[in-house]
Order: sequence, then structure tokens, then C-alpha cells
Amino acid sequence: MAVKKAAYEFTQTELLPGVIERDINQEFPKQQVKKMGELGFLGMMVDPKYGGGGMDTVSYVLAIEEISKVDASASVIMSVNNSLVCSGLEKYGTDEQKEKYLTRLAPGKIIGAFCLSEPEAGSDATSQRTIAEDKGDYYLLNGTKNWITNGNSASVYLVIAQTDPKKKHLGINALIVEREMAGLEVGKKEDKLGIRGSDTHSLMFTDVKVPKENRIGEDGFGFKFAMDTLNGGRIGIASQALGIASGAYERALAYSKERKAFGVEISKHQAIQFKLADMATEIEAARLLCLRAATEKDHKKDFAKTSAMAKLFASQVAMDVTIEAVQIHGGYGYVKEYHVERLMRDAKITQIYEGTSEIQKIVISRELIKL
Ligand code: CAA
Repeated sequence: MAVKKAAYEFTQTELLPGVIERDINQEFPKQQVKKMGELGFLGMMVDPKYGGGGMDTVSYVLAIEEISKVDASASVIMSVNNSLVCSGLEKYGTDEQKEKYLTRLAPGKIIGAFCLSEPEAGSDATSQRTIAEDKGDYYLLNGTKNWITNGNSASVYLVIAQTDPKKKHLGINALIVEREMAGLEVGKKEDKLGIRGSDTHSLMFTDVKVPKENRIGEDGFGFKFAMDTLNGGRIGIASQALGIASGAYERALAYSKERKAFGVEISKHQAIQFKLADMATEIEAARLLCLRAATEKDHKKDFAKTSAMAKLFASQVAMDVTIEAVQIHGGYGYVKEYHVERLMRDAKITQIYEGTSEIQKIVISRELIKL
């Protein structure tokens, strides 16, 4: 497919050079993200009238897999902008909000961030401590958000906050906050195990005045907005996990045909062959789940269960396959030059963000019981 080819070429010319150094130095891929925007990778599914690519979710899965094979830091930036920011705004934003923000976010002129997690509200997302006090024409926003992807590079933040604690999750709102708004402070950059090129920060809001017209949906719709948006986001992260796995597998396969031990290429040893067979089978199954979730979304079916299944399964595959890829590389796998140790570190976050694996099991089982 053309999109897969375009993504592949982009990875080889723009992402692969310097990916090891960006990981070591925790360097945000600024130029590469700019190029991703120009190539249409940052608003792939958005209607072209807002500057998006007008593509389907299947194309999105193919592109994210390809990009994640080489640089999972770049792909999380892409996934958050596409699925958590652009998709949510396009589906639930007002015409004015789309005109003002989506037209710049979709072509990647600016990027966005999705701010749900807090120091004391990760998996337990209804326990929002950030307060958006209703002041008539505006909300007064106070609180702290943690582990925000694109935290320092975003120009627009979708912030989930509690307005009426008595109403619990039905008192939560989603607000569009601009970087320049007074009272917003970007906190420290996290020093992470993996996806070290992406910038993950805490954010502090002190008496930030957010105009009412920046609320997404009706009063109290914020939690539903977050949940619905995350259902789509999980397809992006599942595809990222798939790409991390297939990138590590391709490197391990190639290495096994070059490296000799006991007089033959190691691919001729059954111990390696069985590892490759397991890796390839797991990857294929993960790919089919990602594509199934994407197809259900494209056909406007309920895809919450399948996207959670895809993320749960693909993230485990990413862990399993990257560990085996390091093992196949032996001592070379443990050093940076061969890429697989980075992919192994990158894999872990796919079991944590956009809902841990344990949360995916909650989502899946609730859907099963509902049926
Ligand atoms: N899709 C649609 N609606 C959902 C939903 C889903 N997957 N999950 C819950 N809801 C709805 C429920 O139907 C319920 O609606 P009603 O008002 O109609 O009853 C409402 O949300 C509240 O749900 P629950 O009563 O089930 O609430 P809960 O507290 O028992 O559990 C949860 C909710 C599913 C555990 C939720 O808190 C959750 O998903 N937690 C994980 C949060 C998460 O994924 N965080 C990721 C952070 S973002 C990130 O990582 C981005 C990044 O930078 C990469």
C-alpha cells in the first residue's frame, strides 16, 4: 500500500539516522516531527477540509507499525496527536474549535497533548483532583497533570478536570488549554526507560482562565470524552507495540542469517528457528487484532473491546518478541548499536500508557459481560 511505502521511506531517510543518539540524549525529534506533519502523518484520519489526510484507520495502523519499527518515540508523538487530540476534536469539537485548533493540529503546524493522568489518578481516572471551577464565562483551572506526552512541545492541551465533585465522573469536563494561557507551567522532563526521544512532562495549572467556548461537549461530558477518545487511542498504541515487535523481529531474522556459530549460520539451529517461528506467529496474530479493531472503527461498529484486546495482546507480544530478539543477538543485542535493546526498553511502556494491561482486561471483561 502507498501509505506503508511512504512511511517506510520516511523511516529510512529521516528517522533511522540519529535514532540511537536521540535515545541516548533524550532528544525530541523536532525536525522529524515537522516532516511527519508535511507528509500528512499527524492528522491522517482527519477530514481534508480541516487539513487532514482523510484516510481510514487501517492506513493509520499500517503507518504507525512502519514508523514504530524504527522510532517508537516518533510514533507515540504521532499516535497522541492523531488519535487522542485530532480525533477527539473532530468528533466532539464545535465548528469554531475545529477551525481554530484542528486546522493547525491536523497538518502538524502545531502538536497537541492529552492530559488525563494525575499524580493520584492514573488507572483510577475518575478520581480527578484537577479542578475546573465554573466562573460563568470561564473555568478557573487548578491542579497538576503527570506523564504528559508532548508535554513541552505541544501548543494545545486537552485537559480533563473535575467541575462538580458531587456528580463524580458526570461532573468532569474536557477543556482546550493553550500553551500561552497565563498560569500554565511545564514541569520537569521525565528521564525514562524507553521512548526517550518523546518529551514527557508534568504540567501545573494555577488559576488558568479557560473560556467556556473551549469546553468540549456538554457540561459533564469530559469523562465520556476521555474514555471514547482512549478507545481509539488504544488502536494507535497497539499498532505501535506491533511495530516495535516487528522491527525487532526483522533485525533478529536478518542477524540470524549472518551470524555463524558452531560452523553454520545460527538460523540453521533449531533453537533459533523455534524462536523465530514463535515471534512471527505472535506478530501476525497481533497485526490481525490491530487491523480488526481498525476495521470495526472504520465501519462505525463498537470497537472498545477489540481495541483493548489489540492493545493487551500486542503489548505483550512487543515484550516477548523484543526480549527474544535481544537473546538471538547474544552479546551484540545488549549494546546500543544493534537497536534491539532500545526496542526492548521501548516495548514496556505499551503495557502501561493509554490504560495498563490490567485496565484493558477490565474494559474487555465489562464488554463481555454486557453482551
Ligand atoms: N468506552 C466508553 N465509555 C466507557 C469506557 C470505555 N472504554 N470505560 C468506561 N466508560 C464509561 C462507563 O460506561 C461509565 O459511563 P456511565 O456514566 O454511562 O455509567 C463511565 O465511563 C464511568 O465508568 P465506570 O463506572 O466503569 O468507572 P470506573 O471508575 O469503574 O472505571 C476505567 C473506569 C475503565 C477503569 C477508567 O478509569 C479507565 O479507562 N482508566 C484508565 C485510564 C487510562 O487509560 N489512562 C491513560 C492515560 S492517557 C495516556 O496515556 C496518553 C499518553 O500520553 C500516551
